[in-house]
Amino acid sequence: MSISDIKHMGKFHVDFLRLVLDLPHEEISQYTIDFLEEESKGKEWSRTTYHSHEANNRWMANLPHKDKLEEDILTAAKEFVKRSGRKEFKEDPFLFYWGSVYKEHDQHGAHTHPQSLIAGTYYPQSVAESESITFEAPWSSHIMHDTLPFSDSMFSYHPNTGDCMLWPSWITHRVHPQKKADKHRVAISFNLDYGRYHQ
Ligand SMILES: [Fe+2]
Repeated sequence: MSISDIKHMGKFHVDFLRLVLDLPHEEISQYTIDFLEEESKGKEWSRTTYHSHEANNRWMANLPHKDKLEEDILTAAKEFVKRSGRKEFKEDPFLFYWGSVYKEHDQHGAHTHPQSLIAGTYYPQSVAESESITFEAPWSSHIMHDTLPFSDSMFSYHPNTGDCMLWPSWITHRVHPQKKADKHRVAISFNLDYGRYHQ
């Protein structure tokens, strides 16, 4: 053997932050469910406020405890950048958020959150049957012949009621079709960014 040294260098980790929020989750969930039921009346079920700015603004305007939620998201984002070595927020961060309700068979295909630094979701309602959120390793679409363990290329997180997850906006994630459950899966998702990119 003519190898005089071996050094293994594992690099490129990804940061996730999970916080538990102490908010009136049920009140927030019921308001969001009622809002989307009303919006969907006489139409196909619409599981999110995201696709209409006008509807999202109406949902946000009366969202119970919205000030506390926004404060918690901003605090969480500050923790995220601090703990992950990113630059702190010098001016007010940009924050945009929307509500989603997953009934049986509802799903969300693979996507990222462009034009943002951090993506995240707060779960005011999640039960045992609620679908997890599944994150893909950033190399998962490029591995070709690589034989890295499949389990290392995916990270599924089953949220508990009150959980709030944050991750880099460029991580691909999805929600597989929701199974039958006694209670809907309710999610409030957000984009958070440095304010200077949104003036
Ligand atoms: Fe998302």
